[in-house]
Amino acid sequence: MNITKICCIGAGYVGGPTMAVIAQKCPHIQVTVVDLNAKRIALWNDPNSENIPIYEPGLSEVVQEARGRNLFFSTDVDQAIADADMIFISVNTPTKTYGTGRGQAADLKYIELCARQIARVSKTDKIVVEKSTLPVRTAEAIQSILHNTGNGVKFQILSNPEFLAEGTAVADLLQPDRVLIGGDTTPEGQKAIEALVSVYAQWVPKDRILTTNVWSSELSKLVANAFLAQRVSSINAISELCEKTGANVNEVARAIGMDSRIGPKFLKSSVGFGGSCFQKDILNLVYIAKSYGLQEVADYWEQVILMNDHQKRRFSKNIVSTLYNTVADKKIAFLGWAFKKDTNDTRESAAIYVANDLLFEQAQLAVYDPKVSHEQMLSDLNYLQSRSDAENERMVTAYDNPYAACEGAHAIAVLTEWDEFRSYDWQQIYDKMNKPAFVFDGRNLLDKKALETIGFKYQAIGS
Ligand code: NAD
Ligand code: UGA
Repeated sequence: MNITKICCIGAGYVGGPTMAVIAQKCPHIQVTVVDLNAKRIALWNDPNSENIPIYEPGLSEVVQEARGRNLFFSTDVDQAIADADMIFISVNTPTKTYGTGRGQAADLKYIELCARQIARVSKTDKIVVEKSTLPVRTAEAIQSILHNTGNGVKFQILSNPEFLAEGTAVADLLQPDRVLIGGDTTPEGQKAIEALVSVYAQWVPKDRILTTNVWSSELSKLVANAFLAQRVSSINAISELCEKTGANVNEVARAIGMDSRIGPKFLKSSVGFGGSCFQKDILNLVYIAKSYGLQEVADYWEQVILMNDHQKRRFSKNIVSTLYNTVADKKIAFLGWAFKKDTNDTRESAAIYVANDLLFEQAQLAVYDPKVSHEQMLSDLNYLQSRSDAENERMVTAYDNPYAACEGAHAIAVLTEWDEFRSYDWQQIYDKMNKPAFVFDGRNLLDKKALETIGFKYQAIGS
């Protein structure tokens, strides 16, 4: 089957960049990305491609090249579905906040709404692709909704999970380690797989395009995130032991990472992993294991989350205890709010939880992040509902300038590993701070020796 028109439902961190790259690499395919969020779509259509709603290095250039040629952003979901041969579902699948599975299971209401809309609108046969991260066997539910329309339209369902990481999304999409496509073993299923393979094969070497059955593909996505997060929790667990024993976590990471069986990646100790997916996907895995009665499996993976919560909490506790057991009315400067560098995404960022803890201790927070707005910071804190919105506003100030954020502060906490923090004039920062001036480096980012020479009291995770 020759794909000429693609629709993607969901113009978020996955749908936007993924479709922009498909459109760039497949000029013969018309790609329409749709979303209910009119404001988001308007930003994707902003004539100045620097204003697109997602900050990702290299993305605005890709959008600039393809938009208006074969890449379109629209709120007309029905029309885009009706026109397409292939429909990607790339909507959010957050942790459920109500009912059975609350706090663990994935909330599939947006997925089901998409399936029902596709069923209602489609007049021609379609390939429906799960791009969102979903619990294993979700395709069964989608299939059941689509196959009961009674209008004779035939649907094939594929699983094609996305492995891009934010901050490197464009590079990850252009040169993926692998593309995973799961489909039915029937001849129709295999044809659908081939159709999607032919899209990626425009730029991805064939040996990197992996095809499996649907359930393996769905499950592999959850497992990949669980393994990655597990490495971070493992090294973070060791960071606490390093602090007690005089070992240095960076040296330990380097020593073990040179073992080719272990490998050097994802061994960077930190204040804790954040992002919209690691926690959500592990909780989902835990829930699935429990629902099959596999309590030990569930407990094993849940520990990755518990360790991460511990790491965030012990970082804020250490700030309080080091600052003579009180931070009340003290100015604490935060460098970074995003959950990692090179993104404006703050979902589940460790900074939010550290801030929340310090606000309980009545600290005054001064936050600088090169890409995150004050409104976003307040909305992240208000979402936790730990105190009134007005109180958050009174206690948290955002700065456009890092030097102003640090002026008069008792301590600086480094929460995101933005490169620019390294090149600051640290002497100038020191001169304007309250003394003793502390730096709590949650990312092992700064030069300990240089800071100590200036006079800072410097502490990094794991040393
Ligand atoms: P997101 O919240 O940024 O985007 C989802 C978009 O879907 C939103 O703009 C929302 O308005 C839209 N939407 C929801 N229901 C809709 C509907 N019925 N019709 C039209 N639009 C609708 O989420 P995201 O970060 O792009 O994640 C999407 C999925 O991809 C999730 O399942 C996530 O786990 C997975 N994923 C995310 C990443 C990542 O880096 N963020 C990476 C890999 C996989
Ligand atoms: C992660 C995965 O890396 C992607 O493959 C996956 O597609 C994506 O989740 C998803 O499903 O959403 P992402 O969350 O964007 O990508 O970013 P990562 O680079 O994985 O970082 C996640 C968190 O772990 C960040 O807070 C980061 O700072 C932290 N981290 C990462 C560490 O603390 N140490 C490390 O060594 C690596």
